[in-house]
Amino acid sequence: MLLLPLLFGEGEKHWSRRPVAVLMVTVIAVTLGAFTSLGTYTPWSPMMNAWTSAPIPAADLKDRTPLEREGALVFQNKQCRNCHSIGGAGGMRGPALDSIASRMTEDQMIRQVLQGGGNMPAYGNALNPSETTALVQFLLTLRGGNLAPAVDASRKMVLSSEQAPSGLPSKPATPGGP
Ligand code: HEC
Repeated sequence: MLLLPLLFGEGEKHWSRRPVAVLMVTVIAVTLGAFTSLGTYTPWSPMMNAWTSAPIPAADLKDRTPLEREGALVFQNKQCRNCHSIGGAGGMRGPALDSIASRMTEDQMIRQVLQGGGNMPAYGNALNPSETTALVQFLLTLRGGNLAPAVDASRKMVLSSEQAPSGLPSKPATPGGP
């Protein structure tokens, strides 16, 4: 390949007249560069020493109840850190959890932890109920500084229909209905 231009010297040489060649070289360079840089930190693969090497940020432990701190221990010991980062440290296989409580309610977290899903292993067999409770109580404190906690939109409807005097779920308003 390198010898080709020397052996067959004729033809257009200026780069501005050879757009296809320039495009090909650019695409190859960008592709190699992107894969090389991704390969240096492999975001798709768990970081197997993250749980031992990266401490939970002190700010996430300050002013927490014993139960919440216990949950931080469970989080560390069950190696959630290998796939999830907190405070910028940890694996990148799963999403960072610094502000998880602003995205997920308690029930949703329990479901995600016990059943896994979307490339996350299920921890239903690896956590006993008290560990799960502690873990989720810790996750509920992670609100990325001070974001509002996540609200389950269906919860309000369920509660209000339970409190309906007749005991029947209140009929949803159907605009334009009969
Ligand atoms: C093998 C890697 C892996 C491990 C270990 C792991 N997770 Fe996950 N986790 C994931 C992936 C991948 C997702 C994204 C799931 C999806 O997109 O549906 C996820 C999603 C989550 C979510 C929802 C995040 C969001 O923003 O939607 C929570 C909460 C969570 N994990 C908590 C935990 C906890 C707690 C542990 C430890 C008990 C744990 N994970 C261990 C890979 C992992």
